[in-house]
Amino acid sequence: MDRIYAERLGQVDLKQPAPQTEPERQYYFMAECRQYVQGLEQELGRRPTFFTQTFGCQMNARDSEKLSGILQAVGYAQAGSEEADFVIYNTCTVRENANNKVWGRLGYLNAYKKRHPHMKIALCGCMMQEPEVIERLRKSYPFVNLVFGTHNIYKFAELLSLSFKQKDTVFDIWKDTSQIVEDLPIERKYPFKSGVNIMFGCNNFCSYCIVPYVRGRERSRKPEDIIREIQRLAADGVAEVMLLGQNVNSYGKNLEPSITFAQLLQEVEKIEGISRIRFMTSHPKDLSDGLIAVMAKSAKICKHLHLPLQSGSSRILKEMNRRYDKEQYLSLVERIRQAVPDIALTTDIIVGFPGETEEDFQETLDVVRQVRYESAFTFIYSKRTGTPAAAMEGQVPEEAVKDRFDRLLKEVQRIASEKANALAGRKEPVLVEEVNAQDPRLVTGRLSNNYVVHFPGDAGMVGKIVDVKLEECRGFYFYGRHLCTHI
Ligand code: SAH
Ligand code: SF4
Ligand code: F3S
Repeated sequence: MDRIYAERLGQVDLKQPAPQTEPERQYYFMAECRQYVQGLEQELGRRPTFFTQTFGCQMNARDSEKLSGILQAVGYAQAGSEEADFVIYNTCTVRENANNKVWGRLGYLNAYKKRHPHMKIALCGCMMQEPEVIERLRKSYPFVNLVFGTHNIYKFAELLSLSFKQKDTVFDIWKDTSQIVEDLPIERKYPFKSGVNIMFGCNNFCSYCIVPYVRGRERSRKPEDIIREIQRLAADGVAEVMLLGQNVNSYGKNLEPSITFAQLLQEVEKIEGISRIRFMTSHPKDLSDGLIAVMAKSAKICKHLHLPLQSGSSRILKEMNRRYDKEQYLSLVERIRQAVPDIALTTDIIVGFPGETEEDFQETLDVVRQVRYESAFTFIYSKRTGTPAAAMEGQVPEEAVKDRFDRLLKEVQRIASEKANALAGRKEPVLVEEVNAQDPRLVTGRLSNNYVVHFPGDAGMVGKIVDVKLEECRGFYFYGRHLCTHI
């Protein structure tokens, strides 16, 4: 745990009542939890362990690091699997299959818990914001100890402490919040790179999407808090940050004084020690020329932009409430490519949105062929209860969707492989991320444009930026050779 957090925790006086202000209140409950965990340690004759499982997006993953930070602060040791004394699932509900995974794994956990009755199971994240889910949990999942949602994750220590005191499942779900609580412990997955939340929630209400309902309204963090967090990360050895938000291009609109995402990026660029800046996700409707100009002249912003298309049909885009059409999207891509010629573009595409015809689908294929994405995430439309699209006429038959999905994937992969092949032979700076799991003589790293390369190296290189020659393209990744250290 970071020294500043440990000091704060050390200052807690449990003889006093719990403070009313945040985050002080949470440090108080962390100190309380510590006592429970120490008791458990004596009972078990070993240090209790925890396991966090992320089911969703980068924001969900960042939240899991916050959960891990608290669990470590209160005395749990990290376990490598679900066979742990405290298991928490950080759920996602963006598509039905994300949901199903959680129900499936809960069955397995229940069986494990029967053999280890002292074990605690907690659920949090986006799926918990759905009333039907909570109802089902209350009815049929009494073995779960703690359930909370997305808006009160900062209260984890307090809820954990309550779950030690209370026999029945602790439920705490909020509808929304305007609060942002800063300065709680975080345990990063990687020492050299980190996500940084810049905003929470979403106001866009794309008609298929459940995120605005489960993550609440858009709230931006203050720029000074973001900068301070990144400065600390840099001092702690982090070389790459990924700025996170559902729609980073609308960052700062509701702040006083207001600030744009492009301005924030310029501030982040000044932070010494940070060599690479990434961000996610950009909504095409809000991507400004100011941002393109900042990207063009930046030495640190990576040459990669994830720009979700969703559909290439202007008619479907309107039904999706995306607020751009095919032509606007293509012209945006052209402006970006002109300003940043070697940028890699990736995207998200949904197939089978209600009312999508073969002609609409052909429009999507047309955009894919024109833009030539370096890679694309393709999704089959999933009906989410409560969203406008769920009530729309003309749900597309499964067979037609499957057929379109396969054709799209083929096209995306053909183009992606051509794009990757064109890079072979180049010399590129690479941030080394890990020793290769399959072959320990190799290390694996990422190019600025997000491609992955494997090359001979050792653990000492992890976290460093080195120059690598891309010798051989294997479809979507490369084998390379290390040239020299790049400071
Ligand atoms: N805020 C981001 C996306 C977050 S969700 C953005 O606007 O780009 C990630 C992706 O999941 C979306 O881009 C979309 O392609 C996909 N998605 C969201 N809801 C979906 C649904 N109901 N069915 C299928 N895919 C969906
Ligand atoms: Fe969902 Fe649209 Fe918000 Fe992205 S911008 S999270 S797709 S509503
Ligand atoms: Fe899933 Fe929630 Fe992210 S629904 S995609 S984890 S914001």
